[in-house]
Amino acid sequence: MLDKRATAIASPNIAFIKYWGNRDPALRLPANASLSMTLANLQTETAVQFDNLLESDQIEINGNPASVQAASRVTEHLDLIRTLSGLPSFANVCSLSNFPAGAGIASSASAFAALTAAASSAAGLDLDMKQLSILARRGSGSAARSIFGGFVQLFSGETDEDGYAEQLAPAEHWHLVDLIAVVTKEHKSTGSSAGHLLAPTSPIQAVRVQDADRRMAICKNAILQKDFQTLAQIVEQDSNLMHSVMMTSDPPLHYLEPESISIMKHVTRWREDGLAVCYTIDAGPNVHCICSFEDSHEVERQLRSIDGLLDIYRCSPGNGVALNTNN
Ligand code: PMV
Repeated sequence: MLDKRATAIASPNIAFIKYWGNRDPALRLPANASLSMTLANLQTETAVQFDNLLESDQIEINGNPASVQAASRVTEHLDLIRTLSGLPSFANVCSLSNFPAGAGIASSASAFAALTAAASSAAGLDLDMKQLSILARRGSGSAARSIFGGFVQLFSGETDEDGYAEQLAPAEHWHLVDLIAVVTKEHKSTGSSAGHLLAPTSPIQAVRVQDADRRMAICKNAILQKDFQTLAQIVEQDSNLMHSVMMTSDPPLHYLEPESISIMKHVTRWREDGLAVCYTIDAGPNVHCICSFEDSHEVERQLRSIDGLLDIYRCSPGNGVALNTNN
């Protein structure tokens, strides 16, 4: 009999050029292309077992039964996989992350990348990386990028089939470090799914989307040429543009806390003083300080002197999703 269980491990990613807003919310086709670095050290491990004796999906996240909202999102994703595979059974899903969820550290990216790989394998589907990326995107746009390691671009896509990610350069290409300055571990009040729906209400969103290909081209080149100064300028501009959209949505979304702004200002000063560092912030208040490996220890030392910092996570470029074959 087919063993209908599998376990997969995936890492979150930090977007250098961010996706915000969907052109097709049902398919989660992003309004604009995006580019990220997959993060080593942080990970979600997800085990999925289909069992024809179950009467509903049983979903456990970080040791607790999933909330109604999280469970229905996982079940919706499993439904896609049941449809593709023809397997009707419900599943046991057990997911464990080694970092806080919902605080702007892209927990949905690693969660849906791991769920997609584990569930599709458990269901007997033999999907290639592109197909996994398309399917992961249906769970969470940024998850499409976490299928791959290193530096990864996600195309905006006109249709389901062309909304996928691909690797721009492997993890070994450039030893950047993401020092995540954690100012809160609390779950954000507005998740990114709700945030994406608000994006079109900001008059800035159309301008941000229209300019995205220019930012993508500059960012891609900066990565390929390992040009830190150009990367820093475009990464900060892109993050500021996304937060401008958030703050001018109706109702407005404020993810930044006073501590976030304080760190942003420090980072700008450190770069003026010669350190290779820039900031970028996702849908949460924690600040990702992207730096060269060479300057990362000095940046970390300086970060530790700032009041209000709870923790610092140090992440190098990491690998894409992997099935755990010991399971
Ligand atoms: O994948 P989602 O729906 O959680 O959206 C991610 C949105 C940002 O993290 C803010 C930006 C990005 O491109 O990762």
